[in-house]
Amino acid sequence: MKVLVIGGGGREHAIAWKLSQSPKVTRVFVAPGNGGTALNPKFENLPITDVVALREWAQQEKIGLTVVGPEAPLAAGVVDEFRAHGLRIFGPTKAAAQLESSKAFSKAFMRRHGIPTADYDTFTDPALAHAFIDRLGAPIVIKADGLAAGKGVVVAMNLQEAHDAVDFMLVDNKYGVTHNAGGARVVIEAFLEGEEASFIVLCDGKNVAALATSQDHKRLKDGDEGPNTGGMGAYSPAPVVTADVHARAMREIILPTIRGMEKDGIPFTGFLYAGLMIDAQGRPKTLEFNCRMGDPETQPILMRLKSDMLDLLNAAIDGKLDQVDLQWDRRPALGVVMAAHNYPEDPRKGDAITGLPADHDDAVVFHAGTVLQDGVVRTSGGRVLCVTVLADSLRLAQNRAYDVARGIHFDGMQYRRDIGHRAIKTP
Ligand code: AMP
Ligand code: GLY
Repeated sequence: MKVLVIGGGGREHAIAWKLSQSPKVTRVFVAPGNGGTALNPKFENLPITDVVALREWAQQEKIGLTVVGPEAPLAAGVVDEFRAHGLRIFGPTKAAAQLESSKAFSKAFMRRHGIPTADYDTFTDPALAHAFIDRLGAPIVIKADGLAAGKGVVVAMNLQEAHDAVDFMLVDNKYGVTHNAGGARVVIEAFLEGEEASFIVLCDGKNVAALATSQDHKRLKDGDEGPNTGGMGAYSPAPVVTADVHARAMREIILPTIRGMEKDGIPFTGFLYAGLMIDAQGRPKTLEFNCRMGDPETQPILMRLKSDMLDLLNAAIDGKLDQVDLQWDRRPALGVVMAAHNYPEDPRKGDAITGLPADHDDAVVFHAGTVLQDGVVRTSGGRVLCVTVLADSLRLAQNRAYDVARGIHFDGMQYRRDIGHRAIKTP
C-alpha cells in the first residue's frame, strides 16, 4: 500500500519512518517532507501543500492511507476534503480541530463538559481584559485565540507583563484571526503550578488508545530558561505520569472530551494531545488540547512503538480502536533537538550540516528544518534535527544522544545539554 504523510517536520519524518517498517507499506510519500525524507530511498517528497491539490494527487496515485502531522492542514480542512472524495485519512475534521485552533472554543468546551482546566474568561474589549487582570492579579496567563505557532501564550509573572500582553494581542491586533469576524480575541486564565506532561491518544470518534507517556522541554536554554520554543527535546515515558495520574487523565480529561465531542455532534478522530499540568497531589488539569501528535514528543514515542503503525491507523479509521493492543518497547527513548542559529526569533537558513550518521535501530537522527540541495543537507528552519535514542535507561539514552549530537555540525547550532533532567535522578 502507498501511504502519504502530510507535513515536513521531525514528527512527520518519524511517522514516515515508522510506517515504512510495516510490511504492507510499499512506498511512503511525504508532503512536503524535508532533507531527511529526501535522503531515504524508501520515501519520496512531494512538493504540494494545497489541500485540494493534495487530494487530487492522492486520488490519482491511489494512496491507501493518509496521516496528517501538523495542525495547519487540519485547521484548513484537509480531512474533510479527503473524506468527501472517499479517501482514507487519519486526523480530525476542521470542526473537531477547533479544540486546538481556537482557545476560546476549547475552553468553552471544557467548561461545558466539566473537564478540569484553569479558570478563565474570554475578551475582545481591551478595557474589560485589563480590569479582569487587575481583579485576578499575577501570575496570570494571556492566550491569543487562534493558531499562533506556539507564540500566542504569555505567562505573565507580574501585572505589567499581563497588561502589555493584552495590548499586544488586542490593541496591536497581532493575532487577529478571521474566524471571529473582525476583532482579535484573548483568553485570560489562572496560572497553574505543577509539572507538565504530554498525554497523547489515538481516537476513532468513540474509542481511545493511549500512546506511551512523554514530556518535552519547551524553553530554549538549559535549566528550562530562556524563550519558549516548539520543544527542544523530549523523552518517553514520563515518570510524572504515574499509573494513578494516567488513570485520572483518562477518566477526567480524555474520555469526557471524546464523549463531549460526540455529544456536540463533532466526533473527534485523530491524535488528541492534552497538555497536562500535574499538581503536587497528582491531579492533572488541561493546559491545552492539540489535535495532532507533539513535536518532538513523537520521535521518542514512535521509537518505542513495537506495533505496526499502519494496522493501528487503519483500525482507527475503521472505528475499531477497541480491538487494538499497543505494544511498546520497555526501554525509554530520548530525543535532543538541534536548532538553527537565532532560533526561535529568526532562524538562519542555508548552513551546511555535516557528520550525519547512518540510522540504527536504536538511534535515528530525525530531520525537521533541513533541505537536500545538490547532495548537501542544509538548514531550512528553526528546529533542524532531533537525535533520538532508545536505551536501557534514560541516562544511557541521554549519554548516547549527546554522543551522536557531538558528531554533527552546522554553523550556529544550538542544543540543550540537559534534556531529560526532570526524569533522570542524580545518584
Ligand atoms: P499552551 O499553548 O496553552 O499549552 O501554553 C504554552 C505553555 O504556556 C504551556 O506549555 C505552559 O508551559 C504555559 N502555560 C499555559 N497555560 C498555563 C497556565 N494556566 N498556568 C501555567 N502555565 C501555563
Ligand atoms: N512539543 C509541543 C507540541 O508539539 O505542541
